[in-house]
Amino acid sequence: MVFEIGDWTQAEALEFTTREWAAHPEPPEVVWAPFDVVLVARRAPDEVAIGAAFGVVIGGVGELKQLLVRHGDDRKGVGSALLREFERRCRERGCHALRLETGDYQARPFYERHGFGVAAALANDRFGRTVFIMTKPLQAQFQGATTAPSHVVR
Ligand SMILES: CC(C)(COP(=O)(O)OP(=O)(O)OC[C@H]1O[C@@H](n2cnc3c(N)ncnc32)[C@H](O)[C@@H]1OP(=O)(O)O)[C@@H](O)C(=O)NCCC(=O)NCCS
Repeated sequence: MVFEIGDWTQAEALEFTTREWAAHPEPPEVVWAPFDVVLVARRAPDEVAIGAAFGVVIGGVGELKQLLVRHGDDRKGVGSALLREFERRCRERGCHALRLETGDYQARPFYERHGFGVAAALANDRFGRTVFIMTKPLQAQFQGATTAPSHVVR
């Protein structure tokens, strides 16, 4: 067989993979089409943006890609409010779990306060640091999924 590799759009790739792997055993309420959740926190009354959170809901999991509060506006509840709203949107779309990555120099304790647990620790990233994959079950039957670190990849 002769073939070549080229570029495609995300939409084309998604349509192809959904069509070619249509007989998925998941329950019908699990939605595989990605849905973006993009949130901003604006200061009142001037509406200056002081924080942002964005992620994607896919396959019943809400993946938080980024959460950032502006220097000087941190530690005032903004990050917690953004995270709570991200979780609310994910629950609204039927998610059974949240997932994120955070570096050992970032915000693991913050996420632990919000009910996340470390599912895996990836040691020695390209800066020699450890990255934690953290999860939070949103439904009782998935609670066993969040435990102490289950493995370390070196
Ligand atoms: C982490 C971050 C989103 C938290 O938002 P925030 O608005 O500051 O947090 P809140 O005010 O809602 O909550 C404060 C509490 O969370 C915890 N917390 C917040 N930031 C923390 C950090 N960097 N490390 C450890 N704990 C932290 C503390 O318990 C804190 O309570 P305290 O002020 O009484 O000590 C924000 O500090 C930030 O943007 N940091 C830089 C970017 C970053 O690390 N983002 C996460 C990438 S995965």
